[in-house]
Amino acid sequence: MKKIIIAIDGYSSSGKSTMARDLARRIGYVYVDSGAMYRAVTLYAICHGMATAENGVDTAALVKALPDIHISFTPAGSDGIQHTMLNGVDVEREIRDMQVSSLVSPVAVIPEVRHRLTALQQEYGKEKGIVMDGRDIGTTVFPDAEMKVFVNASPEERARRRVKELSAKGENVTYDEVLENIRERDRIDTTRKESPLRKADDAVLLDNDNMTIEQQMDWLLKLYEDRDR
Ligand code: DC
Repeated sequence: MKKIIIAIDGYSSSGKSTMARDLARRIGYVYVDSGAMYRAVTLYAICHGMATAENGVDTAALVKALPDIHISFTPAGSDGIQHTMLNGVDVEREIRDMQVSSLVSPVAVIPEVRHRLTALQQEYGKEKGIVMDGRDIGTTVFPDAEMKVFVNASPEERARRRVKELSAKGENVTYDEVLENIRERDRIDTTRKESPLRKADDAVLLDNDNMTIEQQMDWLLKLYEDRDR
């Protein structure tokens, strides 16, 4: 079967990463989590004093440091999860914490950051046979992707899922704090000038508020099978 590019975009915590990863595993494709790349850049900025909750992001310093930031992924381990590497160090856990979550959207508005990561993402797609999830994959990174999905769920449902996920990892967060972070990220992601989050005209909408993971996978596999003929 001809290999294609599958772009899965959507709001934060809409479950798109789990869905994209599972789909890639089921059909033998490579999975790339583009959000992890923005998170890794944000972690670098935090660790180097270029991003703080009090002062926000020092854009000039971060842009200057971009050539020193190298991001890659390990192959999927026994847990089926690829780990994000920042300058040779496994940062998969650190990039998911709340500190990174609350500073990642302001980092992701910086055009130089977007250009660098977009180029890297396009490199991953050269061989096709890839599932990539993010915000602008179907619109900017791979506008010609053969299959595009746009995932949405209500902010409340997304906050509930995220609290569950973070609590399972032992992070102490409240529902209100997470909901506020989700709303703020939605606002920044959809209103930024450069590659704002929006559904590509040719993307298929998946509203997964009331769907189980299994139902979503069946829906995705059917879409894939219908497209990939
Ligand atoms: O999918 P995520 O929540 O891990 O993404 C983290 C942040 O990165 C998100 O708030 C917006 C940004 N992002 C982006 O701007 N473009 C992408 N393709 C992926 C993520």
